[in-house]
Amino acid sequence: MASVTSLTDSVQQRLANALSAALPEAADADPLLRRSDRADYQANGILALAKKAKANPRELATQVVDKVVTGDLIEDVEVSGPGFLNITVTDKAITENLAARAADPDGRLGVPPSETAGTTVIDYAQPNVAKEMHVGHLRSAVIGDSVVKLLEFTGETVVRRHHIGDWGTQFGMLIQYLDEHPHELDHKAAEVTGEEAMSNLDRLYKAARRLFDSDEEFKTRARRRVVDLQAGDARTLAMWQKFVDESKIYFFSVFDKLDMDIRDPDIVGESGYNDMLEETCRLLEESGVAVRSEGALCVFFDDVKGPDGKPVPLIVRKSDGGYGYAATDLSAIRDRVFNLKANSIIYVVDARQSLHFKMVFETARRAGWLNDDVKAYQLAFGTVLGKDGKPFKTREGETVRLVDLLDEAIERASAVVREKAQDLSEEEITERGSQVGIGAVKYADLSTSASRDYKFDLDQMVSLNGDTSVYLQYAYARIQSILRKAGEVRPAAHPELELADAERELGLHVDQFAETVAEAAREYAPHKLAGYLYQLASLYTSFYDKCPVLKAETPDQVENRLFLCDVTARTLHEGMALLGIRTPERL
Ligand code: ARG
Repeated sequence: MASVTSLTDSVQQRLANALSAALPEAADADPLLRRSDRADYQANGILALAKKAKANPRELATQVVDKVVTGDLIEDVEVSGPGFLNITVTDKAITENLAARAADPDGRLGVPPSETAGTTVIDYAQPNVAKEMHVGHLRSAVIGDSVVKLLEFTGETVVRRHHIGDWGTQFGMLIQYLDEHPHELDHKAAEVTGEEAMSNLDRLYKAARRLFDSDEEFKTRARRRVVDLQAGDARTLAMWQKFVDESKIYFFSVFDKLDMDIRDPDIVGESGYNDMLEETCRLLEESGVAVRSEGALCVFFDDVKGPDGKPVPLIVRKSDGGYGYAATDLSAIRDRVFNLKANSIIYVVDARQSLHFKMVFETARRAGWLNDDVKAYQLAFGTVLGKDGKPFKTREGETVRLVDLLDEAIERASAVVREKAQDLSEEEITERGSQVGIGAVKYADLSTSASRDYKFDLDQMVSLNGDTSVYLQYAYARIQSILRKAGEVRPAAHPELELADAERELGLHVDQFAETVAEAAREYAPHKLAGYLYQLASLYTSFYDKCPVLKAETPDQVENRLFLCDVTARTLHEGMALLGIRTPERL
């Protein structure tokens, strides 16, 4: 792999050398380099070092400046304020760095792989069988998909797990209901598949739920049915399998609409751990991690109490012998640690399930399944809100169906594309409409930190101005159009050329792609990449406003500016791909 050392790292190294020459005890000290408005970079690390060495910070800074080698990489370095260093790099170093990135034969723009790559199991995109997907399932899928891409890009081995809700009480309820009302589904389900069949299943689910909540005897029969299911009764299993198959067809159609590659072998739902449940309970009981309480097998925590002050346990096995959500999750941890050999396990799940995961993780730690070498982390996301700032609902107060939302986004985006379209065919408008619409939905989700709630506002999402994917996609398409217009003239780097301020700003930002990706992957924070890309597009816009490309002063300058356009476009393309968003060549 042709990794390129970033300008930041090179400057950092120069400063560290100068620092240890000026102050030998600071040999391993970090000069704390940051991009800055005053110069290209500012280093703030001298203040703390001077304090430690009981030296005057400005004097120490001056000594460091004397030792910094300038010329090739660093143009200028000066002391500022109480002892900061302001550093300017040479135009030549910027262009040469970008040229090395552009020349990376792996198409990775010189981004080095992580030095600490291991195996991560990521649990995301986990809808529930026999239920329609809603807007909450969007977040897990979109965030998870981007984290998978980011981690894989850094060289991590990633195992995807779609922990679909396909087990437990609700299936006893559904199967029992259908058994008692055999004609509720067949005439409808026979000739339909996908979305429509799912709506029927969803209706059946709601009817079964109503009966379950109002009729104690039905409730008992349904509970007994779930025990049959978990014990492997053939007829019950066959009915269950039909629900699962039908639902999966629907899930795939939604993921397809989301332009997301979900693979069947990675769908290992709650049912997939059924054979482990008994052993999980036995291990927990034998080690004393779980105890019997009122007939149930429970784990207690000092800091988890109900409103009445009584401890609220994690119930691993209910008093009727049924296993719930916790038993499956604990078994899944054993599978992920001991069979899949995970070093990290990430759960992209709604923040409202945080208490569940806190208890599950703590239980697994007590059992010795999780420890300092194998860590579990809930990448908890906030709620999607409507324009009114309340949890997103339809006008009738129902949860919004994910497909309806996606269709609306595509429709709105198609209108935007159509309005701007100059030379697009009807077919292209349809294709772009969905790339722009789905991109808009994903970007809106990924551009705020996952833990925060956000407002689902389609008007804002498909707007051409502001922090939207459409803005980024147009920036990309505009660059492609310039490159096409250049015809025979090809992009080429000319490191001997002096750069305008806007070119320098753009170039220095492109250089930071590698650091941004590494940080976003390390912190499971796609929003950091989204923020970077938005800034990249903004810097490109000001470059484009200030620096004529095809009409630049000399042929070399035309080539060099085309080169800047090209490397920016490639960075945008790669970055957007890591967010799961397409960058059409023409818009
Ligand atoms: N199916 C669940 C839901 O829709 C999410 C599953 C999360 N993953 C897990 N391992 N519990 O809320």
